[in-house]
Amino acid sequence: MADEANNKSSKPFSVDIGGMRIRYKDKSECFTEDQLVSKEPFGQFKAWFEIACKTPGVGEANAVFLATATKDGMPSGRLVLMKGYGTDGFKFYTNYGSRKARELEENPNAAMTFFWEPLRRTVRIEGTVTKTSPEDSDEYFNSRPYYSQMGSLSSRQSTVIPNREFLIEREKELQKEWPGEKIKRPDWWGGYILKPRSIEFWQGQSDRLHDRIRFRRPNPDEKPDNHLVHEGEDGWVYERLSP
Ligand SMILES: Cc1cc2nc3c(=O)[nH]c(=O)nc-3n(C[C@H](O)[C@H](O)[C@H](O)COP(=O)(O)O)c2cc1C
Repeated sequence: MADEANNKSSKPFSVDIGGMRIRYKDKSECFTEDQLVSKEPFGQFKAWFEIACKTPGVGEANAVFLATATKDGMPSGRLVLMKGYGTDGFKFYTNYGSRKARELEENPNAAMTFFWEPLRRTVRIEGTVTKTSPEDSDEYFNSRPYYSQMGSLSSRQSTVIPNREFLIEREKELQKEWPGEKIKRPDWWGGYILKPRSIEFWQGQSDRLHDRIRFRRPNPDEKPDNHLVHEGEDGWVYERLSP
């Protein structure tokens, strides 16, 4: 019965989705612990991110999948652009009235996943999110081109609208209000920063024995045994996960 259902559901497709599979890295290109450039995750992220930025075929290296959830645990995901990172966390900017913002207000737990396909790499980040300061949001908003500022201003993100013309009309009205000038950041638009409690570096391998090294904050009283759990730097531990 299950097979029949599968056959039925796969009939309309002209591609064999089940057979879709491409070669990843060779065994000689494994990602092993001795290749970590840093024993804390931010240095390691910097190394991988900078490679991703220079890799042909990685469109927007800072595009990241952001997962949020309601307080009842109903998840939702979307892409955002990561606009800064450091030991404080990973920043992005958005509309504070959007669905993601509403979910973050009631549940600050969130996850980010980068996927750099030509490198067969992902980075998975989990942690808690807070708003960045108004000064930080101003600084980033003011650095954006006029048309991007206008785009943010004219869209009450995630609200239902009747048609596309509605947005165009809205933008025309706002252009009269702000004719080619620098626009002031509305207080309903700004930054968030995700402070990680774990960051996993995943390197795909052609034999499917993918490499996964996760940094995380240790549990209270946890002592690294240096067999499964290794002592990192700056209060982090790291460990290898089964693929
Ligand atoms: C590559 C890419 C980058 C994006 N970057 C952002 C961003 O930085 N901020 C943002 O609010 N939306 C961004 N979006 C749009 C979001 O994916 C999403 O449609 C929007 O934020 C509304 O999501 P929400 O309704 O869950 O809040 C981006 C979309 C793509 C495809």
